[in-house]
Amino acid sequence: MRRMTNEKEFTTTERKRSLDHLSNIQNHYSTLDNESKHNRNNSSIFYLRNINNWIKLVLMGKYLMPHSNVFDVCCGKGGDLLKWQNLRVRNLVAADVTLPCVIAAQKRYSNLKNRCFRGEFIYGDCFLPGVVDKLPNGFFFDFASCQFALHYSFSSQKRIENLLENVSKRLKKGGHFVGTIPNSNWIIKKLRSVEGYTIQNSKFKIEFEKTSLQSQKEKIPIFGAEYKFYLNPSVVGVSEFLVHFPTLVKLAKKYGLELDWKQTFHNIYLYGSQFKNYLLLMKKNNCFNQNNTISQIDWDLMNLYLGFAFKKVTDPQDWNPNETVDLQSRKIISQEDIIVLDQSEFGGRLYQN
Ligand SMILES: C[S@@+](CC[C@H](N)C(=O)[O-])C[C@H]1O[C@@H](n2cnc3c(N)ncnc32)[C@H](O)[C@@H]1O
Repeated sequence: MRRMTNEKEFTTTERKRSLDHLSNIQNHYSTLDNESKHNRNNSSIFYLRNINNWIKLVLMGKYLMPHSNVFDVCCGKGGDLLKWQNLRVRNLVAADVTLPCVIAAQKRYSNLKNRCFRGEFIYGDCFLPGVVDKLPNGFFFDFASCQFALHYSFSSQKRIENLLENVSKRLKKGGHFVGTIPNSNWIIKKLRSVEGYTIQNSKFKIEFEKTSLQSQKEKIPIFGAEYKFYLNPSVVGVSEFLVHFPTLVKLAKKYGLELDWKQTFHNIYLYGSQFKNYLLLMKKNNCFNQNNTISQIDWDLMNLYLGFAFKKVTDPQDWNPNETVDLQSRKIISQEDIIVLDQSEFGGRLYQN
């Protein structure tokens, strides 16, 4: 009897925590400024942002074949749309839980010059079930990408499993799921080397709550290891969670996803620099500073992230390899075309309007 009460209390507390966390995310990403080009170019993270984008491109380029169907999970404001265009994708589905982000992404898509792919935009929580269920029957992905966002799902086992299910459900056998996340090993190593619960340099700060670590740096929980992340000047105190990578690998297996590649950003940099076209892009896309190099502080910050790729090794249900289904073809796509998910049956809610 006592056990049942505890479980119920736990569920209610967990649900509240999850909704609070979601509000924190939505508030942060909806108020994030649409910076002017001038401000962006003068930002202290100008080069770092360009390097991160280049790393994403290298990771995508390694696995993405032309004419693929792509699922951009937690797409933000559509920062990867130009990459999808350059990588010549065929169909793109992009989803995010922050409405202003989805609207911005959809607008960017509408305004893309010489757009060569069909797009569908979804407003909903990608860490609840059912995100791909409104897509046309017979439509499947070759590739899924979750950039700088999967760590938000590590609040609980349920949420990361929902994300993996959403990714895997329509991913063809042989397709890939790639992403970028903070490198928990590096964070923990740093944390254990300092006195308190904060690690930082002049550009970033990571602040742990003692309680989220069960008051011990040595015994870190697998889910819900929360910290606040600050990146000067754009990110101020967003709640994130450590990703226990072996657990991610184990859970992914349950959804037919097998780890193919896991590399720190330093190693992805070394990998990408072997290719002339990527080296040229590094220069063209302003990854190097005035001294034609990456500053020590940005190089150190690259330690903070890693990239991964999983391969789908099982057939999705109802997949017919001989059938090709595309998304609806639209010349103009308006805000009304955004698919709004009602996830209330899973404990979700409708967010900002
Ligand atoms: C750091 S941004 C990355 C955006 C984009 N992937 C990129 O690389 O430019 C993180 C994004 O994850 C989204 N996000 C966080 N939790 C989410 C959830 N539960 N479902 C869908 N999107 C989520 C946020 O709204 C935000 O747009």
